[in-house]
Amino acid sequence: MTATATATQAHGAPAPAAPTGTAPASTAPAAAPGTAALDEAVRRDPAGHRVLTGDRPTGPLHLGHYFGTLQNRVRLQGLGAEMFVVIADYQVITDRDIAHRLAEHTENLALDYLATGLDPERATIFPHSAVPALNQLLLPFLSLVSVAELGRNPTVKDEIAHSDQAAVNGLMFTYPVHQAADILFCKANLVPVGQDQLPHLEVARTVARRFNERYPRPDGARVFPQPEALLSAAPLLLGTDGTKMSKSRGNAVPLSADEDTTARLIRGARTDTDRRISYDPAGRPEVSSLVLLAALCQGRPPERIAEEIGDGGAAALKRTVTESVNEHLRPIRARRAELAADRGYIRQVLRAGAERANAVADATLTEVRDVMGSL
Ligand code: TRP
Repeated sequence: MTATATATQAHGAPAPAAPTGTAPASTAPAAAPGTAALDEAVRRDPAGHRVLTGDRPTGPLHLGHYFGTLQNRVRLQGLGAEMFVVIADYQVITDRDIAHRLAEHTENLALDYLATGLDPERATIFPHSAVPALNQLLLPFLSLVSVAELGRNPTVKDEIAHSDQAAVNGLMFTYPVHQAADILFCKANLVPVGQDQLPHLEVARTVARRFNERYPRPDGARVFPQPEALLSAAPLLLGTDGTKMSKSRGNAVPLSADEDTTARLIRGARTDTDRRISYDPAGRPEVSSLVLLAALCQGRPPERIAEEIGDGGAAALKRTVTESVNEHLRPIRARRAELAADRGYIRQVLRAGAERANAVADATLTEVRDVMGSL
């Protein structure tokens, strides 16, 4: 089944519909060493693997997200793991006063998810602001971490350093614990994230461990699992300015960009003056990131791509990259355009996701209040 055919079925269907996501998954690069064992474990016991990941609704997802985590999510979904994807709308106001165009960004994020292959029948996609019991978990969880621990979180420190707000607000300071609630409300045990999120995963693990110790269940079972990080095998992609590709730095190629915009963005990417193209991430980071991007799109080794371009220089490299990206994303973009034409459908996916997330969160909160001895 092609991605476009899937979109046609899903589009306008009475219920969030149409399994698959085969189009993006089929072109995914070979799994890195280490993931094979996990794949096997998930395949053997899909019900024992609950995956939670998420993003802030602050703008369109880009190629860094796609190769860094979206492909991984779709792969895990394909293996049968149960997926929860949180749209972290409360997190948007950690480093800004107002969450601009929140509804639009939330819907567009859901569109990016569906277009890249997440299936709303198998993945629960929801904004966490719509799940009261998830948010209530923040209260007991906050009592399990010290103020000093909150102040030491390197990712929070980095975000504070880059924020242009005059003062750090309390939500910024505590959001890793809120993120622990995102992860633990559904008792997720696998969290596919980027390197920068590892300190937060450590917070979630600490909260889970301390909660279990402080509130043992009469039957001896633990309330929360220890969630594991799942780092992507794909190396970091650089943005067009040679620094990490990021929504906020204006250096990203959005998944939803059209082909001409993609060509323009890639033409503007920083390279170097050596005409001979090579794959040397340490010595030539900008050129190598472009080579890698073409390689990921084509599902071939970067060294081969570099060899083929040879003395063609940056112009030939950028032509290859542009064609590879546009070709790889064509079915995804077509599917996205089709889904985007029906906002009602996207809203329905989010509503159904929130409903499912609420049922799970309510059950967890009941259990939490129970072991705490609440009336
Ligand atoms: N903090 C993540 C980011 O900025 C988004 C996020 C929110 C998240 N809750 C999560 C990621 C839970 C993984 C698990 O990208």
